[in-house]
Amino acid sequence: MKITVIGAGNVGATTAQRIADMELANECVLLDIVEGTPQGKALDMWESMPCIGSDCHIVGTNDYKDTKDSDIVVITAGLPRKPGMSRDDLLTKNVAIVKSVTEQVVKYSPNAILIIVSNPLDAMVYTAFKVSGFPTNRVFGMAGVLDTARYRSFIALELGVSTKDIQALVLGGHGDTMVPLPRYTMVGGIPLPELLSQERIDAIVERTRKGGGEIVNLLKTGSAYYATSAAVIEMVESIVKDKKRILPCAAYLTGEYGYNDMFMGVPVKIGKTGVEKVFELTLNDDEKGMLENSANAVRNLMSEIKL
Ligand code: LAC
Repeated sequence: MKITVIGAGNVGATTAQRIADMELANECVLLDIVEGTPQGKALDMWESMPCIGSDCHIVGTNDYKDTKDSDIVVITAGLPRKPGMSRDDLLTKNVAIVKSVTEQVVKYSPNAILIIVSNPLDAMVYTAFKVSGFPTNRVFGMAGVLDTARYRSFIALELGVSTKDIQALVLGGHGDTMVPLPRYTMVGGIPLPELLSQERIDAIVERTRKGGGEIVNLLKTGSAYYATSAAVIEMVESIVKDKKRILPCAAYLTGEYGYNDMFMGVPVKIGKTGVEKVFELTLNDDEKGMLENSANAVRNLMSEIKL
């Protein structure tokens, strides 16, 4: 198993570190255009392997040749948000970056599974999909796992219970219009509306929608990366170990939920071939309305992509 992470910023480097620490690959390549950064970070991580007890061979590089024959490529390259910016403000610059990265990646790893993390997420997955020409099972995006993790962590905090016992689902695009689904949220098997008032649920949903911005405002110099990389790892692990996890990912839709030819967060089964199934569930009118709103936001961005 060879996994490449493109972008040695906070998200990319932390993702590579988690891959190496968990020994999810024999070989992990960290690539960035900045000279020295991927080499330095990867060498530092390699030097930590004796303490961690992992034999993942991790190397840093500026040269795509070193990514040859990767099984999985995680693309984190792109500008991060600064305070006051929405994910959408990054569109034009990050389309250009993701396009050029994808071209290089597919040249050396034509059989890889691509996990896109760059923002604005759903539009970046679409960009990578179009540029790569890969089948839809091998191109998808990480956002729903992060959004769901935030939502679960806030519910655990509110109820004073283990994060482990919160099962939840967030649908839609990775933006402020994302759609957390309280009706499909379980706490140790108990539906959330049994345990919390509508008012508290609404507050948690709102905090989840703005969860990325909350971190940006605190950090001031960049966006979230601990939860972001942890979310990528749930997806990577499900591929590497063929675990068939059901995770919310930005997947290509062919009529599911009434949407076509676009990527948006929906529950999917992730195994060794990538996205193995898209799950559809029954939504009430309210939820359908929110999903439509989110889909429209994604479509608006897609219409501005020039490849
Ligand atoms: C977030 C950014 C990375 O949600 O999209 O934190």
